[in-house]
Formats: sequence, structure tokens, C-alpha cells
Amino acid sequence: MDLGLTGRWALVCAASKGLGAGCAEALAGEGVNVVITARGEEALQAQAAKLRAANPGVQVIAVAGDITTEAGRAAALAAAPQIDILVNNAGGPPPGDFRDWERDQWIAALDANMLTPIALIKATVDAMAARGFGRIVNITSGAVKAPIDVLGLSNGARSGLTGFVAGLSRQSRIAGRNVTINNLLPGAFDTERLQKTLVAGAQKSGQALDEVRVKRMAGIPAQRFGSAEEFGAICALMCSAHAGYLTGQNILLDGGAYPGTF
Ligand SMILES: NC(=O)c1ccc[n+]([C@@H]2O[C@H](COP(=O)([O-])OP(=O)(O)OC[C@H]3O[C@@H](n4cnc5c(N)ncnc54)[C@H](OP(=O)(O)O)[C@@H]3O)[C@@H](O)[C@H]2O)c1
Repeated sequence: MDLGLTGRWALVCAASKGLGAGCAEALAGEGVNVVITARGEEALQAQAAKLRAANPGVQVIAVAGDITTEAGRAAALAAAPQIDILVNNAGGPPPGDFRDWERDQWIAALDANMLTPIALIKATVDAMAARGFGRIVNITSGAVKAPIDVLGLSNGARSGLTGFVAGLSRQSRIAGRNVTINNLLPGAFDTERLQKTLVAGAQKSGQALDEVRVKRMAGIPAQRFGSAEEFGAICALMCSAHAGYLTGQNILLDGGAYPGTF
């Protein structure tokens, strides 16, 4: 299927690695010009070079910076002539016990996983509506549907974003102008972040890393972790010209791990 996106411009945040990189790859593969961001310059430039090599007809702009800061967002927004597609993403907050978290930790989590996506939506959504096309995908987490005890900062901040998006996406001056806002909820995906979690789990339990990995996969009905490529493919589909009637939704990609009917 032609997704009808050739020549569009996307800002894909936090996209030198992992799920963000998967989204940028899928969009560039559909002929979308992309601005990608990350803090680390080296990995970001390497990813930009990979995208350019795979998609010679597409413009790829790499903007190094922290997307959770005002300066980082301003630089990312200024890099594209217009933004038709916005993929919101940033690193997730650390695990822990809420008894140890002070206001600063909460503010950092809210900044990264709630207020940053809202600021970027605010900066782009009205221009999208004026042009009559816009697609916004927020990478959140399966933890929004099924909270993970030790990820309280993530559960809280991402649920705040989810509630906000549920209301905003249904404004007629947004939905009625072919601008959609949806959340894409990853379960367990085989990225650096997941690898770090598995290593920490192995160290804590004294089990071998392979054992921890196999056990974790066995708990997923699909019997495997997801890949950044398949995450990116669904993101691109949600951004497609055909997805204009899909808005305000939380799309869970977890290999069947969430046990509920709805
Ligand atoms: N993988 C999973 O199984 C899973 C499951 C549920 C939720 N999630 C969530 O999905 C998101 C992406 O996860 P991932 O697995 O793709 O992580 P990852 O493999 O660690 O990749 C994170 C990417 O984001 C960039 N990044 C992180 N913080 C940034 C910031 N402040 N500004 C700009 N770029 C930033 C990183 O580059 P730099 O470090 O160089 O900035 C890197 O490119 C995270 O919020 C994570 O919590 C992931």
C-alpha cells in the first residue's frame, strides 16, 4: 500500500536509536523528509547517514540536543520548513520507589514524558490544521494500560499526557482539519533500553542474562520481543494519508502481553 506520504516533513524526536529510529526509518522509507534528534551527536550522525544511504530521494536533517529543554525543542522545530508529522519520544524515567522521589524527580519525568510532547504539539498543531493535514504520534508505554510498579514516574507522567491528548485530539478544529493525535504504546521491544533493564535484572537476581531474557520472552504470548522495525511500520501506518479517521486512540503493541479483552 502506498501510504501517501511522499514529500511530507516529519520531526521524529529521540531517534538515533531504538523505537524513535525505527519510526524515522519507516517514514523515510515512505518518502518522508525527516528531522531526527538525540543528545549524542555521534550516534545521531551515524543514524542520519544510514537514513540518507537507504533513501537517496529524502532529506534527512540531524539536530543534536536535549528535546526536554526549550533550546533543544526550538532547534528541532527550526530545522524543518514545515512539520506535517510529529513523533514525540524521549528517554523514559528511571525505576524506583516513590518514597525516594522528591519534587525534582517528578518534575524531570513530567518535563520529559508529558510537558515536552505537549509543548511540541502546541508548536505544530495549529499550522497542521491550517494546511489540512497533520499526524501526531506520541510514543508512550504499555505501562499506561497496565502500570509497572517500579516505573511510577513513567506511569504517572505518561498517563497525564494520555489524558490531555484524549481531550485535545477531539477538538473539532483539530480532528475536523485532518489532524490526528494518537499514542503508540510499546510493550517489550528489543532496544538498548530493554537490554539495560535485562542486565539490571540479571545482576539483581544473580541469574545469567540469557536466562533472564528467555524467561521474559516466555511471558509474552508472541514468545519474543518486538523489533524497532515493526514498531516503526505501525507508526508510519498511523501517519499515513489513509489514517485520517484514527484519532485519540491508544494503540498497544505488545505481542499480546496485556491480558484484557479491551
Ligand atoms: N523498548 C521498550 O521495550 C519500551 C517499552 C515501553 C516504553 N518504552 C519507552 O519508549 C521510549 C523509547 O525507548 P527505546 O527503547 O527506543 O530507548 P533507547 O533504545 O534507549 O533509545 C532512546 C533514544 O532516545 C534518545 N534520547 C533519550 N533521551 C533524549 C532526550 N532527552 N532528548 C533527545 N533524545 C533523547 C537517545 O539518544 P541520546 O541518549 O543520545 O539522547 C536514543 O536515540 C522511552 O521513553 C521508553 O521508556 C520503551
